[in-house]
Amino acid sequence: MFRRITRNWRIPKGKEKTAFDERILQFQNRGEIVPTNRLVKTPEQIEGIRNSGVVNTGVLDLVEKEIHAGMSTADIDRLVYDYTVSHGAIPAPLGYEGFPKSVCTSINEVVCHGIPSETEILREGDIVNVDVSTILNGYYSDASRMFIIGETTPEKKRLVDVTKECLDIGAAAAKPWGFVGDIGKAIAKHAHKNGFSVVRDLCGHGVGLEFHEEPEVDHYDTHRHGMLLVPGMVFTIEPMINMGTWRVFIDEADGWTVVTEDELPSAQWEHTFVMTDHGLEVLTY
Ligand code: MF3
Ligand code: CO
Repeated sequence: MFRRITRNWRIPKGKEKTAFDERILQFQNRGEIVPTNRLVKTPEQIEGIRNSGVVNTGVLDLVEKEIHAGMSTADIDRLVYDYTVSHGAIPAPLGYEGFPKSVCTSINEVVCHGIPSETEILREGDIVNVDVSTILNGYYSDASRMFIIGETTPEKKRLVDVTKECLDIGAAAAKPWGFVGDIGKAIAKHAHKNGFSVVRDLCGHGVGLEFHEEPEVDHYDTHRHGMLLVPGMVFTIEPMINMGTWRVFIDEADGWTVVTEDELPSAQWEHTFVMTDHGLEVLTY
């Protein structure tokens, strides 16, 4: 057995070492996991991701306006596709590793990656996650919201609200020159305090130049630092919080739909963030 010593950060040939480089190298030399250069976005790249996020937010605002009992999840998929392409963008899920639709729609006990369908009709009391990801001029953004169809039970409402709080608390815990591990630690504490569990098999992720980049952003307490967070990094936080067990399985019928093992409800909220000198800034408002 040996421990992997990461040597991720490089000074490009012919460039002077800056104070920023020096600060990263200090962590690297201490054996911490540091980002690769590609994970730290330039101001131009951040602008590109921000513009992608504007379209992504427009999609979610449209869904928020239109979603209602009696519509199918395929209706949501059409809204997402039409809005996205009419704004010069591409829905990132469409064709991604064989995913057949433009958006993920995940109802009640479905944790994530639900596939829109003509025969799946939204009903009063459902809690629905709509997960939208957009490519604009090659830049990726990714965000999801929960929608409550009409009135639901107080317990499902509380799950939706606490999950949103988990996202906000996780984002507040992410500090420049802190670590990815701070995020999941804060989220898990809040979820457990409220009697809920945190899904472990799916995570947030770096995003921007690709749909899924490093680092993996766990939403539970891994008891590890994880990757160093430096200004310019762009990533999602997207906690999936369950009413019962944290254990999930993938529906064999389609190979995508993630469902809670006990079939109790699950909720998820997601934003894309950029790390600044002062903490995270949301790119998907
Ligand atoms: N939007 C999901 C995420 O938050 C990824 C979905 S992959 C897909 O990372 F293929 F199902 F769209
Ligand atoms: Co995501």
